[in-house]
Amino acid sequence: MSATFTEPTASPLLHLLGQGVDLASERGVECTGELPSPSDPTLVERARAAREALGDRAFVLGHHYQRDEVIAFADVTGDSFKLAREAAARPDAEFIIFCGVHFMAESADILTSDAQRVILPDLAAGCSMADMARINQVDEAWDVLVEAGVADRTVPVTYMNSSAAIKAFTGRHGGTVCTSSNAQVALRWAFDQVGGTHGDGKVFFLPDQHLGRNTAVRELGLSLEDCVVFDPRRPGGGVSAEELRRARMILWRGHCSVHGRFSVRNVEEIRAKVPGVNVLVHPECTHDVVSAADLVGSTEFIVRALEASEPGSAWAIGTELNLVRRLAHRFPDRQVHYLDSTVCICSTMNRIDLPHLVWAMESLVAGRVPNQIVVDADDAHWARVALDQMLALPGI
Ligand code: 13P
Ligand code: SF4
Repeated sequence: MSATFTEPTASPLLHLLGQGVDLASERGVECTGELPSPSDPTLVERARAAREALGDRAFVLGHHYQRDEVIAFADVTGDSFKLAREAAARPDAEFIIFCGVHFMAESADILTSDAQRVILPDLAAGCSMADMARINQVDEAWDVLVEAGVADRTVPVTYMNSSAAIKAFTGRHGGTVCTSSNAQVALRWAFDQVGGTHGDGKVFFLPDQHLGRNTAVRELGLSLEDCVVFDPRRPGGGVSAEELRRARMILWRGHCSVHGRFSVRNVEEIRAKVPGVNVLVHPECTHDVVSAADLVGSTEFIVRALEASEPGSAWAIGTELNLVRRLAHRFPDRQVHYLDSTVCICSTMNRIDLPHLVWAMESLVAGRVPNQIVVDADDAHWARVALDQMLALPGI
């Protein structure tokens, strides 16, 4: 591991494997079978044997935030965009085992054939940001835009981190999906549908206000004043019809609680401590943090930036801890720092551990299909329209 990597200390808000998690927002909390004990000394051996027995029948996808013990069994690792593409490119795999979170597994189900089964090893692996936009709230918000007379010149764009129902909403309303690696292209495409960035067309961006704002302001040349925040908990979203008419970006009030913890103070402190450090953050960070950073990009971008970096270079990375710790291990000749000294992990990503993966794979070997993710046919159709639109965007 990079000699400079210091393990962050537990934050007071630590969300550790179920502690402090809102169970009502989770997709399920029970494992429906006999979960191996985490202390089982044969766990790695069992995982190897089950993986071998499944062979080409299964394909294992691992998001960059997964634990090392899980990544060790991934056939491919990536950001949410790369994993969606990889799932779509494996028509021969009977089982797609998705080591990531629920919305990613839903997208894989939509992009694969009906004969293929997508398995999420722990159904409690949700995403708190995706849970911040419920379909009934989004339908009501659209009614507000209709009332304000702006819906006919508004294109919805939803971040991949959203439920299939919300992706279907964007498909039904002529919009698209985006990820952190193609948000700029997706937003340009959306504005082009309503007269370009200089007209009075609008984008309704869900559910991450930060990714929407960061992309619009930093990459499309819009201003902060062009953005309004629609709060689903306030009547009319807390914005007037006049504000909606003036806005170019209507941002849903959602955020990631992991990335929301990085601050400008963290950036200033690391710059003072490590002269010449490159500050590299995920675009789910707040606008002031992203503005203070040197580089901004998806998890795959972060991995590639480290791969392309010079030995001896110094990096402070603002994203989930598993990925940063792994990069510090992989590049011991770079200085790799965690941007915050006390930050929480993504508790839901971490729910998928080796016992759950072993349980899922052994169940498949025994002829049982555990934790299959199935999107209902109508949502799947319209979500696919929006996802195909994303996959067809130019230059991605
Ligand atoms: P990426 O698309 O960059 O992998 O991000 C997904 C995510 O959930 C980040 O919090
Ligand atoms: Fe969701 Fe944030 Fe976890 Fe990503 S890091 S899966 S946005 S809660």
